[in-house]
Amino acid sequence: MRTPTRRTVLAAALAAAGTGLLTACSGSGSMKGMDHSSMNHGSTPTAPTGYLAPNGPEVAAAEARRSPGPERKVSLTATETTLDLGGRTVRTWAYGDRLPGQEVRATVGDTLALTLANHLPQPTSLHWHGLALRNDMDGVPGLTQAAVKPGASFDYRFALSRPGTYWFHPHSGVQQDRGLYAPLIVEDPKEPLRYDKEWVVVLDDWVDGVDGSTPDAVLAELAKGMGGMAGMDHSGHDMAGMPGTGGAGAPSAGATGPARMLMGAASPLLGGDAGDVAHPFHLVNGRLATAPETFTAKPGDRIRIRLINAGGDTAYRVALGGHELTVTHTDGFPVEQATTQALLLGMGERYDVLVTAKDGAFPLTALAEGKNATALAVLRTGGGAAPDASVRPAELDGKLVTAAQLKADPSVRLPAKSPDRTVQLELTGGMAKADWAFNGRPYDPAQRYPVAAGERVRLEFRNSTAMWHPVHLHGHSFALPGDGPRKDTAIVLPGATLAVDFDADNPGLWMVHCHNIYHAETGMMTVLGYRA
Ligand code: C2O
Ligand code: CU
Repeated sequence: MRTPTRRTVLAAALAAAGTGLLTACSGSGSMKGMDHSSMNHGSTPTAPTGYLAPNGPEVAAAEARRSPGPERKVSLTATETTLDLGGRTVRTWAYGDRLPGQEVRATVGDTLALTLANHLPQPTSLHWHGLALRNDMDGVPGLTQAAVKPGASFDYRFALSRPGTYWFHPHSGVQQDRGLYAPLIVEDPKEPLRYDKEWVVVLDDWVDGVDGSTPDAVLAELAKGMGGMAGMDHSGHDMAGMPGTGGAGAPSAGATGPARMLMGAASPLLGGDAGDVAHPFHLVNGRLATAPETFTAKPGDRIRIRLINAGGDTAYRVALGGHELTVTHTDGFPVEQATTQALLLGMGERYDVLVTAKDGAFPLTALAEGKNATALAVLRTGGGAAPDASVRPAELDGKLVTAAQLKADPSVRLPAKSPDRTVQLELTGGMAKADWAFNGRPYDPAQRYPVAAGERVRLEFRNSTAMWHPVHLHGHSFALPGDGPRKDTAIVLPGATLAVDFDADNPGLWMVHCHNIYHAETGMMTVLGYRA
């Protein structure tokens, strides 16, 4: 339980005074040495005043405007289980006994009524990644709801206001890097695309239950920082030049399992350092490349592929051997169609593509970017040998269209308007000290960056770290610059600045965070709060 601190009280006072300078205290030396326990005013957490409550009347009114329609009832159990990844079994946590969890499919306008039963040994929650939903259903413990205790259940109930490719996962610690994820597909009754078949493809990096590893142990290992590597800058370029750093500088093992800290993973596409964690496996739809899922179709079929990166620390470069991809959507929103041979997905991102199937058996390969490993699924429309597990189709090195090169479909273009407010979020910290943060300030659920309903808000992400970050905003979709695509998750390369705009039209308290689960959990998260 959080207790109010002088810092949060002061922050609230500043906000109430209309300065909006909620970060005024960040970096203040006198605050850093503060003994929080001495500021304890009681045992009930007190949110800063002057902000809308996640379950307040404004949130209910916004939900009513979505005119919630017929109920789509689902029940889901988060449980400890044993999963077969294809010749390799792991003890893990998942939704039911499958990986990914059973896809939830509904129609825009439906009310999703999903009961989550928590059979895990830890509290959990469900976050609906990418949805502009009512704030008290957003699934962030300590901010929008209380965590769902072991043995308890929680009823999620909200209107689905937009079609598209989404997914859900817990917002509790590093649980998402276990098997706790599943697709959420919201269909459009007026679907403008025409296709014969649809294939949902979920990518994931896997460590849980392998030789005793758990995501919690990986987090504990990373949180110690690079210890023996002291004096060395965490720069992708430096590290890339030093493969095989071992010996005295070798990372120590986590609490359980072998060491999983990754150094020297370099990717030009990601501007240097590709990731922090050496996940032993990479999966497509819960399967190892040696036992891939096979999707069957007929030659000439038009197939809509919905790609979702559910990984914890891995960007995937994806290509379908022998085929071009026509990009139709990213993060649920349509784009002006563009053809490409490969796509790069940061954690949390989605792309929908159309392909016209050729005759044969083709690898859908997901290269763990900068990590020299691949995941595989197979498209089969005819005879021929199945692709080899480690095949790297030439298309992986072909034309690659990035989000920055796409344009929003005119139907979802954010109307031009200059921002009423700019929120500066400098991405700070590094792997050396595991001090990932925004503006040098690690996550504090009582901190708010204020916004006001009706404003056009610009988020300016300035990446001062030596690593790329997939930044994610809850409850809204932002627009990339220059009529760029509408997205909820976007890659910010090291040294780069990305400014994205959104309309503050969904009242509440909303997370902004890096979707690298280990960066988020060591501090790179914060909260946008709608002012009362
Ligand atoms: Cu996938 Cu806070 O989100
Ligand atoms: Cu990050």
